[in-house]
Amino acid sequence: MNLRTDLPSIPFIDVAAQRRRLGSAVDAAVARVLSHCQFILGPEVRAFEAELAAFCGAKHVITCGSGTDALVLSLRAMGIGPGDAVLCPSFTFCATAEVAALVGATPIFVDVDVATFNIDANGIMAAVDAAKSIGLTPKAVIPVDLFGLPADHAAVSAAAKAENLFVLDDAAQAFGASYHGRRLGTFGYATATSFFPAKPLGCYGDGGAVMTDNDGLAEAIRSLRVHGHGNDKYDNVRIGLASRLDTMQAAILIEKLKIFPDEIASRDRISRRYTEALADVVITPVAPAGLTSVWAQYTLRVPAGRRDALATALKAEGIPTAIYYPIPLHRQHAYKNFPVGKGGVAVSDRLAAEVISLPMHAYLDTPSQDRIIDAVRRALKAA
Ligand SMILES: Cc1ncc(COP(=O)(O)O)c(C=O)c1O
Repeated sequence: MNLRTDLPSIPFIDVAAQRRRLGSAVDAAVARVLSHCQFILGPEVRAFEAELAAFCGAKHVITCGSGTDALVLSLRAMGIGPGDAVLCPSFTFCATAEVAALVGATPIFVDVDVATFNIDANGIMAAVDAAKSIGLTPKAVIPVDLFGLPADHAAVSAAAKAENLFVLDDAAQAFGASYHGRRLGTFGYATATSFFPAKPLGCYGDGGAVMTDNDGLAEAIRSLRVHGHGNDKYDNVRIGLASRLDTMQAAILIEKLKIFPDEIASRDRISRRYTEALADVVITPVAPAGLTSVWAQYTLRVPAGRRDALATALKAEGIPTAIYYPIPLHRQHAYKNFPVGKGGVAVSDRLAAEVISLPMHAYLDTPSQDRIIDAVRRALKAA
């Protein structure tokens, strides 16, 4: 192997490069909050919610403390709780299923499509049957737009309609992506997203948002995020929680949203370069016609037995990789007793053994990307 220990290591996600680009604009935004001192639900929160709504086309945007809270608030506002089943993919980040359990409902795992990594809508009916067979009432499905790519929303929506399920889109990794010309945030009954720093649109701490076109749902979520308040803040009409996006984070996100379209274009260019250079030696990720991804991750599939060797070879050259996700949820300690839809989740198992993600962010320069491409090709040839 051709070891290049003289070269600096490449960041997996370069939050610092974006910080350098934003420079004094973010400093000034934070300074404005420090001077007006409205730290909770201050003017920047309202301004950011309006800008986000205009960006994605949703009627209502309600920001909150995290992407996880955005999902919890949505499920609570939909009235989902004990005795209900919530369908979700097994191949996802744990929060997708965690929120169902947190509201007292039961997550039911559905398999994913091998090419897109997203929920296979054909499995929804079987998961509904599995839920009913153990006395649960199927109430909702949470498709996930994994790694930045929209799920097959037309198919999910058709299956959900047939089974009378709410659709709660988990767009934590994919805000900014579009499905046949429509940005995420407008699919299903509600959409949840995350502003965790590593996300395509991330803040400098925790944050999240719910998007919906439904007035009643929006009102319930606004109430739930502040202890379930009614018309007066000391008149509590629901059991809620304290989950608000900090004004400081909203001020930062307003600046980040200005450069977001340019960053999405850059991520797209970088992903295309990866695919052009690697598609002949490894299975590269796809974006089906009509769908755009924000490439939260650039995820390859390699034969299971060769993945560790690839990661080790790249690490030796200062190139980090990550496995999202090494254990599908139906096999995790906290989730293994929840039901799986009839037909199983074999694709989730297979992907967990094969996936490996390369460094991916809007500031990955061409020489660094060439280094990664060259190292991946050499490692795969050597194996
Ligand atoms: C698919 C998915 N859903 C939900 C979440 C939860 O978001 P947060 O970390 O902001 O709570 C994440 C975050 O990693 C995620 O990737």
